[in-house]
Amino acid sequence: MILSIESSCDDSSIALTRIDDKKLLFHKKISQDEEHAPYGGVVPELAARLHAIALPKILEETRSYFSQLKAVAVTNEPGLSVTLVEGVTMAKALSIALNLPLLGINHLLGHIYSLFIEKQTQFPMDVLLVSGGHTQLLHVKSLEHSELLATTMDDSFGESFDKVGKMLGLSYPAGPIIENYARKGDAKRFDFTIPLRGSRELAFSYSGLKNQVRLCLQAQEFLDEQTICDICASFQRVAVAHLMQKIKKVYKERPVERFGVVGGASANLYLRSELEAFCASKKATLHTAPMAFCSDNAAMIGRCAVECFEKGYFTSLEDLKIRSSSKGMFVTKE
Ligand code: KG4
Ligand code: ZN
Repeated sequence: MILSIESSCDDSSIALTRIDDKKLLFHKKISQDEEHAPYGGVVPELAARLHAIALPKILEETRSYFSQLKAVAVTNEPGLSVTLVEGVTMAKALSIALNLPLLGINHLLGHIYSLFIEKQTQFPMDVLLVSGGHTQLLHVKSLEHSELLATTMDDSFGESFDKVGKMLGLSYPAGPIIENYARKGDAKRFDFTIPLRGSRELAFSYSGLKNQVRLCLQAQEFLDEQTICDICASFQRVAVAHLMQKIKKVYKERPVERFGVVGGASANLYLRSELEAFCASKKATLHTAPMAFCSDNAAMIGRCAVECFEKGYFTSLEDLKIRSSSKGMFVTKE
């Protein structure tokens, strides 16, 4: 069994995954949403301090399994350096104390493997990764080879929800709150422009849409509950329309059989329904992770780690480095 640790942002999580049948034997996550909410976003140093308290607490619950462990896996890139170091230090300490090999896992690959928790992998698969840090469309061939088809030029999809939420005075993370408000709103009331609409560029961009919402808010004399709902619904419609427009452009040129959506924002039901319709039009199947494993968690890291373990992709104590950016070996542009 593999013990996996995730601390790339504001979720402290540990999982135990059995190697032979990929069964998830233990999974626990302590989120820091409440602590970061007053700041409207993650405060890295605060997050690091909270990981230092939460991770040992969770680890204690796995102590009875220590004798059955075959490896320790940890997210080492990409993420916040000060929070990644908390997980990596714990993993290295466990590796030394229990004499276990180490596996450094790319967080983005981890999200992709959230689709295969307790399941066999299904590659090749095209995957849309929508989180707080990334908006990427990938053609994933295998554990080792992914082709980047499109990425964001500025803000990520999830980040745009958080920033719009902050402007509206909503709590952090704002994604699920905006989705809830949007359900009660008129999505056509505010006619925001779809980003990069006329551009042939196969890329995403969310900073302009965020500014459109800012200007719209400034123009409101009165911000009643219904107006907030209408802004949320209009913003969500356009944010998703932008994703869909670019995705459709990409697949005008190339075939798609399996399409997965992962990352914290893949929990958005409006986005899922638009992707369902797109997949139906292409006769492709849509793959989604269980809601509990959309946002950051160690179960997805453990599932990816099983593949790395089977291929012998171990890293020595000295070579296991933290990288804040995602230019890791696994996500390459071809
Ligand atoms: O994957 P994740 O937990 O962390 C990163 O790796 O970034 O994603 C968190 C992001 C946040 O920006 C959050 O607002 C967004 O996912 N999110 C959503 C929804 N649920 C979470 N965005 C839109 N709609 C949602 N339902
Ligand atoms: Zn993530």
